[in-house]
Amino acid sequence: MIPDQAPKEDVFHCNEDLKKESHIPSFERYKELYINSIENPDEFWGAIAKDFFWKTKHTGRFLDYNFDVTKGEIFIKCMEGATTNICYNLLDRNVHEKKLGDKIAFFWEGNEPGDDLTVTYRELLQKVCQFANVLKSQGVKKGDRVSIYMPMVVELVVAMLACVRIGAVHSIVFAGFSAESLCERIIDSQCSLLITADGFYRGDKLINLKLLADEALQKCRDKGFPVKKSIMLKHLSKEPEGVVGSQSPPAKRVCPDLEVPWNPDVDLCWHSLMKEASDQCEPEWCESEDPLFILYTSGSTGKPKGVLHTVSGYLLYAATTFKLVFDHQNDDVYWCTADIGWITGHSYITYGPLANGATSVLFEGLPTYPDVSRMWEIVDKYRVTKFYTAPTAIRLLMKYGSEPVQKYKRKSLKVLGTVGEPINPEAWQWYYSVVGDGRCPIVDTFWQTETGGHVMTPLPAATPMKPGSATFPFFGVVPAILNESGEELEGPSEGYLVFKQPWPGVMRTVYGNHERFETTYFKKFPGYYVTGDGCRRDKDGYYWITGRIDDMLNVSGHLLSTAEVESALVEHKAVAEAAVVSRPHPVKGESLYCFVTLTDGVAYNQALEAELRKQVREKIGAIATPDYIQNAPGLPKTRSGKIMRRVLRKIACDEKDLGDVSTLADSSVVEELFRNRCRTTA
Ligand code: PRX
Repeated sequence: MIPDQAPKEDVFHCNEDLKKESHIPSFERYKELYINSIENPDEFWGAIAKDFFWKTKHTGRFLDYNFDVTKGEIFIKCMEGATTNICYNLLDRNVHEKKLGDKIAFFWEGNEPGDDLTVTYRELLQKVCQFANVLKSQGVKKGDRVSIYMPMVVELVVAMLACVRIGAVHSIVFAGFSAESLCERIIDSQCSLLITADGFYRGDKLINLKLLADEALQKCRDKGFPVKKSIMLKHLSKEPEGVVGSQSPPAKRVCPDLEVPWNPDVDLCWHSLMKEASDQCEPEWCESEDPLFILYTSGSTGKPKGVLHTVSGYLLYAATTFKLVFDHQNDDVYWCTADIGWITGHSYITYGPLANGATSVLFEGLPTYPDVSRMWEIVDKYRVTKFYTAPTAIRLLMKYGSEPVQKYKRKSLKVLGTVGEPINPEAWQWYYSVVGDGRCPIVDTFWQTETGGHVMTPLPAATPMKPGSATFPFFGVVPAILNESGEELEGPSEGYLVFKQPWPGVMRTVYGNHERFETTYFKKFPGYYVTGDGCRRDKDGYYWITGRIDDMLNVSGHLLSTAEVESALVEHKAVAEAAVVSRPHPVKGESLYCFVTLTDGVAYNQALEAELRKQVREKIGAIATPDYIQNAPGLPKTRSGKIMRRVLRKIACDEKDLGDVSTLADSSVVEELFRNRCRTTA
């Protein structure tokens, strides 16, 4: 499956210096280890597990599973019988055993240049223990779910690891999601507590986060699910009225316009609670398959799925992928620009780097604020060696040319990475030659919230790169390409990307709905985990992800389901029916093109269009704001009444070749839609 030798032509090789210090310095070594990881998983992962602390050892097989729905319930178990605590492995082990107490865990860089701070491993451990005691004082116990809705601040990491320390299950909701989305997620995972912050800035835009959190809690109450307590961190405000506490944010960050409503029955001040809390907290020893966290991802039915990851397998997988894919070395300064509210931030800001005792940059701001050089300024400021971002950010910065990049030296950079969507070769080339000065390999990492960590990716010193290809599987991962009938294709081919067996970090279930887990990932092709992505394999055996082949859209690296946006639109009283399709976008990758049929008697105008955009933003969040809305008095349907999305996609892209439309009930509808198609975004 993996070629014996890497191709020599039409590929990019990493430089010799990097090979010298690399964990996996050649393609041959990668292949040898890969075969071992597949044939002897117990031996392969067992050796890795030795580096971590286990209170009790595992019994039985290292990985036990059923991937075939026809043979019974789907399950995956890793290191059953072992007990450990991930927080202990990330912090105590590094501070006490590895003597990394004084090492910097995070360089925090705020939205505003000059607003920064550092946190060592010892300080992080102390804060986490204190906050773990705060959670306990509020009655949070092992297995309880805690919702976290916070900006990119060190306290977000503290909150998540404090949950982990006491065996509580965190459910982080990206702070760009709406109150409605937060409410939906709190109720779905039955969270007993919310942790939030007063507000934050994204560039020059103030986000009143506490207002949104309160709105979400009100919605929860209205739906009969009162959340008892909400702990608020003061990031921008002085003391809320009536609360005693000592710590206020630095004067330069304090924002007088911030609105911080305070409900003494529910609200608690982070700082006052921390002042009272001891910094000693014995970790709760958890079973390997105890839940670790829930993270929601879009589902094709419209309702988000609570992806559940468990303790031991996730730890091993996040740690190993981080170490090998970024070729982590002790003196590295690593920077992942993702938000912790997404899986990339979970695995590659918190868990993977801390498990390796790494020093990371934690950045609150935007790549374009205060100007488009900000990323490179930060790279030079902290001498970043490994840099990980999304193709959408690269395409955005590419628009401004090389000058803002070349204002900074970037000499420290060694490895570059991308994640979240296919990277087009043009953006790859720019990243490689302008940002990396032709010196740094690019790891194009394909993975999903569900996979827990990278599953298809180059290794920087081992895998010759092809721009736009995620190359080969990571250790323990066995990909296949299937045709529509579920047959495995050999050699150069294109079809459904599936995996044949689990790796330690794969999700275990959809929280509260195992049947949905089985239906979504295992029923279409029994015996395989179905990614939902299309994939091509070339003559050299390289894999090329071609994008989603279900009703999902990838906007700026964020997955959205068309059904989710459609249901937000039809909730508006003026909309009778809606159909949403993807239209390619030069920066965001894909954009949302929405067709709406209005209810009888309602006139379409700009004010209504603005209302519809607002409606979607309020229901889901700003990431789902429609780019195009077209008034569609009729939608192309089959005679049995099914909307022909294939035809709508052609209209959105102005492609006149519609293919076979013999099942179309009324072709005049299509002509009308073509005539009135949107040409520009709002
Ligand atoms: O379509 C693939 C795309 O992002 C999807 C997963 O999205 P999410 O669960 O939000 O996780 C994003 C961060 C891991 C995949 O099904 N995707 C992710 N990485 C790549 C990619 N598509 C192509 N190339 C990638 N490197």
